[in-house]
Amino acid sequence: MKVGVLASGEGSNLQALLDHVHGREIEVVAVGSDRPAARALERAQAAGIQTRAFAAADFPDRVARDAAIGDWLELREVELVVLAGYMAILNEAFLARFQRGVVNVHPSLLPAFPGVRAIEQALDYGVKVFGVTVHLVEPGAVDVGAIVFQRAIEIPDAREPDDVRARLRPLEHDLLPRAVAALAAGAIRRDPTHPRRVIVDR
Ligand code: GRF
Repeated sequence: MKVGVLASGEGSNLQALLDHVHGREIEVVAVGSDRPAARALERAQAAGIQTRAFAAADFPDRVARDAAIGDWLELREVELVVLAGYMAILNEAFLARFQRGVVNVHPSLLPAFPGVRAIEQALDYGVKVFGVTVHLVEPGAVDVGAIVFQRAIEIPDAREPDDVRARLRPLEHDLLPRAVAALAAGAIRRDPTHPRRVIVDR
């Protein structure tokens, strides 16, 4: 299955996909970013994958940019889009274009702390259990789509966002490739009696 990845920053989740499922369960055929300087683009280039930056300044508005990203991915026959730290919101028309959907990784136990600065939100709240969520991206508010995988970790004495981030990274790097492989294998479906519930066949 051909996969497109969108990323805005470091690209460690992209790297996890490249290291664990690319060339096997899936093929990452395109990596796009809203930030031309994103390290994720360098990682993709190093792996011989086509990249393109879609800077906001190059488009009249977000609708035009999302359409251009969608066209670029569709031209490469992408069926599934992975948001691996993509920091812009994609419109409904974009989400409807991809047969296998769009999947996102978020650094909190949703529905707690959606949106930006999730780890900072959790620290401000004073939580003792942190975690990550891989979810399907659905139209509407951010980070509300059906949950594919979640994993929690106790960090009772957490203080610094960077420390929490470092503890969550390995969880993300395990769950995101697993979710993508499961989607590629057709092993993920909705519970017909409760479509928000995602069943992952093992
Ligand atoms: C991750 O924490 C992910 O959960 C969030 O953005 C971050 C991306 O990190 N959506 P990286 O660029 O993959 O290293």
